[in-house]
Amino acid sequence: MDCKWFWVFLVMMLVSLGEGCWEEERTALLQLKHFFPNSYGYFYNWVENSECCRWERVMCDNNTGRVIKLDLWDVRDWNLGEWYLNASLFSPFQQLKSLDLSFNYIAGCIENEGFERLSRLSNLKELNLGVNNFNNNILSSLDGLSSLKYLYLDINRFKGAINIEGLQSLKKLDMSFNKIEHFVSPKGNK
Ligand SMILES: *[C@@H]1O[C@H](CO)[C@@H](O)[C@H](O)[C@H]1NC(C)=O
Ligand SMILES: *[C@@H]1O[C@H](CO)[C@@H](O)[C@H](O)[C@H]1NC(C)=O
Repeated sequence: MDCKWFWVFLVMMLVSLGEGCWEEERTALLQLKHFFPNSYGYFYNWVENSECCRWERVMCDNNTGRVIKLDLWDVRDWNLGEWYLNASLFSPFQQLKSLDLSFNYIAGCIENEGFERLSRLSNLKELNLGVNNFNNNILSSLDGLSSLKYLYLDINRFKGAINIEGLQSLKKLDMSFNKIEHFVSPKGNK
């Protein structure tokens, strides 16, 4: 009998785990939204004590409740001008597969808080940094993102020689509309 109730309890616990978003991720999302001020109400339902998997621009895995996709494109008021991102803000999303930060006027990352901070996100397959003001300085910080398959860096301020040899799994790279002269391939050829 006792045993039966134990199983009922266990099943109920697993079901409730399967539904809610993770507290740690909700906290991280609430912190994140302050870096994207806008007057369009884009984060209207990003509020305390609500189910963050239902928030606009957030997608979770339906089984684990972990955030797997963040669609944060064009969410910061352009009138605020360029700014520098703290990439560590995304490190709590350990299951993240896709991150879209395009159209946000980002000029780079703050010192020691670049994309190298996300090297432990081993599921990150897609990163969209298109239509920002990034320049060559961020390239080395992308090297650690070894699971990346799709990387969008179009319409930014990259120029000259580009070396992305660290990105071994890459299937698609879009660097159109920059001032690139050539790519340095892994073997040092041009
Ligand atoms: C989770 O379920 C919702 C509602 O059924 C669905 O719209 C969404 O696409 C699912 N998410 C994933 C990642 O499959
Ligand atoms: C960057 O964000 C992380 C995570 O929120 C925080 O711990 C760290 O202090 C921030 N770094 C700076 C320089 O603000």
